[in-house]
Amino acid sequence: MTIPTVTLNDGNQIPQLGYGVFKVPPADTERAVAEALEVGYRHIDTAAIYGNEQGVGAAIAGSGIPRDELFVTTKLWNDRHDGDEPRAAIGESLDKLGLDAVDLYLVHWPTPAADNHVHAWEKLIELRDAGLTRSIGVSNFLVPHLERIVEATGVVPAVDQIELHPAYQQREVTDWAAANDVRIEAWGPLGQGKYDLFGVPAVAEAASAHGKSPAQVVLRWHLQHGFIVFPKSVRRERLEENLDVFDFALTDAEVAAIDAIDPGDGSGRVSAHPDEVN
Ligand SMILES: NC(=O)c1ccc[n+]([C@@H]2O[C@H](COP(=O)([O-])OP(=O)(O)OC[C@H]3O[C@@H](n4cnc5c(N)ncnc54)[C@H](OP(=O)(O)O)[C@@H]3O)[C@@H](O)[C@H]2O)c1
Repeated sequence: MTIPTVTLNDGNQIPQLGYGVFKVPPADTERAVAEALEVGYRHIDTAAIYGNEQGVGAAIAGSGIPRDELFVTTKLWNDRHDGDEPRAAIGESLDKLGLDAVDLYLVHWPTPAADNHVHAWEKLIELRDAGLTRSIGVSNFLVPHLERIVEATGVVPAVDQIELHPAYQQREVTDWAAANDVRIEAWGPLGQGKYDLFGVPAVAEAASAHGKSPAQVVLRWHLQHGFIVFPKSVRRERLEENLDVFDFALTDAEVAAIDAIDPGDGSGRVSAHPDEVN
C-alpha cells in the first residue's frame, strides 16, 4: 500500500497519513511504534513533552527501515523558547530518537503570555539551516501568531498543526494557511474520542454506504480536504483500520454533510485553546 505524500512549501514531501503517539505510555511506545511500522506507517508524530521519544527511537532502530523512508516529527516544548534553549532541546530530542536530524520540528504552542514565539521561530530557522531538521513549522498557532512570525522573519512555516475534526474545523486558520501555502496538520482528527463523532448521522450514514467504519470515514474526510493526519491508537487492529482508507472516496455530498457538523461557534473544541496554554 502506498500512502500519498503532500509537498510542503520548502519542497520536502510528507506522508499524508501517519501515526501520532500523544498519550502512548513511554513503556508501551516501542511496541506500539514497531507495530505501526510493521503494518505500513512511515510517518511518526511525537513531541518532547510526550515523554516517549526514546521508545519511538528504539522502534525505528529495530525496524531496519531505511532512514530516508521515514518521516519523523517532534516538537519544542513551551518552557524552552528562550535564549539558545531550542538548540539544546532539539539536541536532547535527537539523542532520544537516535537520529541525526528530524524531518519536521515544530514550535508546540505559541505561549502568548510569555510573548516569545517570534524568538522561538527565529531559533527554528537556525536549526533548519544547521541541518538538525529538514522542515520547520508551528503548532496551535492562530492567525495573529502566524502573521507575526512571518512578518518578523519572512519565513513561512511549512505546517501549522492544530486541533481539527468535523466538530471544530478552524476555518479562519485553514483559509489563512491555504492563502499562504502552509499545510494543515489536523491533531485530534478523531476528536480524541471526546464527543460522539461516530454517532453523528452524516458520519454513520457514509460509513454504512461505503462499508467502512466511522473512524475511516472521518479520516477520509480529512484526506479529501488535503489535511495531514496521524490518528493515535495503541491497538494493532485500529492501526490497521486507520490506514485502510485509500480504497474508497466520499462523495461531494458526503463531504458537505460532514462539513456541516461544525456548529461554527467554537463549541466543538475538545482540548485547550492556544491563548490559554502558556
Ligand atoms: N500539537 C498538539 O498540540 C497536539 C495535541 C494533541 C495531539 N497531537 C498529535 O495528534 C495525534 C492524534 O491526536 P490524538 O491522539 O489527540 O487524538 P485522536 O487521534 O483524534 O484520537 C485518539 C483516540 O481515538 C481512539 N481511536 C483511534 N483509532 C480509533 C478507531 N479506529 N476507532 C475508534 N477509536 C479510535 C484512541 O483509542 P485507543 O488508543 O484505545 O485505540 C484514542 O482514544 C496525537 O497522537 C499527537 O501526535 C498534537
